[in-house]
Amino acid sequence: MNNNIVLKLDQVSKHYGGVAAVDDVSLQLHEGEILGLIGPNGAGKTTLFNCIAGYTKPSSGEIYLGEKPITGLKPHKICKLGIGRTFQIVQPFGDLSVLENVMIGAFCNTNSMARAKEISEEILELTKLSHKKNDHANSLTIVDRKQLEIARALATKPRILLLDEVMAGLNPTESAQVSEMVKGIRDEMNISLLLIEHVMSVIMYLSDCVCVLDHGELIAQGCAEDVTTDERVIKSYLGEKYASRNK
Ligand SMILES: Nc1ncnc2c1ncn2[C@@H]1O[C@H](COP(=O)(O)OP(=O)(O)O)[C@@H](O)[C@H]1O
Ligand SMILES: [Mg+2]
Repeated sequence: MNNNIVLKLDQVSKHYGGVAAVDDVSLQLHEGEILGLIGPNGAGKTTLFNCIAGYTKPSSGEIYLGEKPITGLKPHKICKLGIGRTFQIVQPFGDLSVLENVMIGAFCNTNSMARAKEISEEILELTKLSHKKNDHANSLTIVDRKQLEIARALATKPRILLLDEVMAGLNPTESAQVSEMVKGIRDEMNISLLLIEHVMSVIMYLSDCVCVLDHGELIAQGCAEDVTTDERVIKSYLGEKYASRNK
């Protein structure tokens, strides 16, 4: 991690009717950083990702990729500029092969079938899915599906990757496997990551810095140790059980 800011949110809000799903959130992601985003269900985490990736337009505030304002640009434009994402609900194209699923990501940057195939085979190699490249996506196990989802996002050649609860539904062994994959993406591919996650051991292991959202508001920000001992965070999210376990 260094001091270059690759993504900056400046007072971003998103209202749905009377609900402030995201409320005046400012944060920064540094080059090579893994920034964890935690908070209770309905806190606004996915909405924040949707604002960054262009799936929804913030009601106010600005989002910068490096120095460039990207607020309100369309998803394909933001993807081309270098922000990749996964979705909370994994959505592989079940009838397509693993390779074809990854190629869909690669088409973000190329119109050439041959080039998309080349990029995708490279990514499958890196994500250790090569041996399954001809399998139908719907024949994959859940952990492979999660990895495929990440591989498809990587094929868009991101500088920044947004991962929305990729560990959900995985057992501890599987989530350790995906954690190593995420670490490799940062260490070997030099991609900065924003990670929404409920599994606290994963957050503690992977995150350089953690942000906590509650009712759309950023209530704490700092290193994992500080954030997980913060009174407000324990009250709104972690609960007393977690606090006493860590005493
Ligand atoms: N498209 C939408 N229309 C109306 N309300 C929404 C929409 N998307 C999210 N919300 C509301 O915004 C809040 C934050 O939701 P979400 O971002 O999904 O939270 P999280 O990902 O932290 O669980 C919730 O109250 C949710 O009901
Ligand atoms: Mg969510």
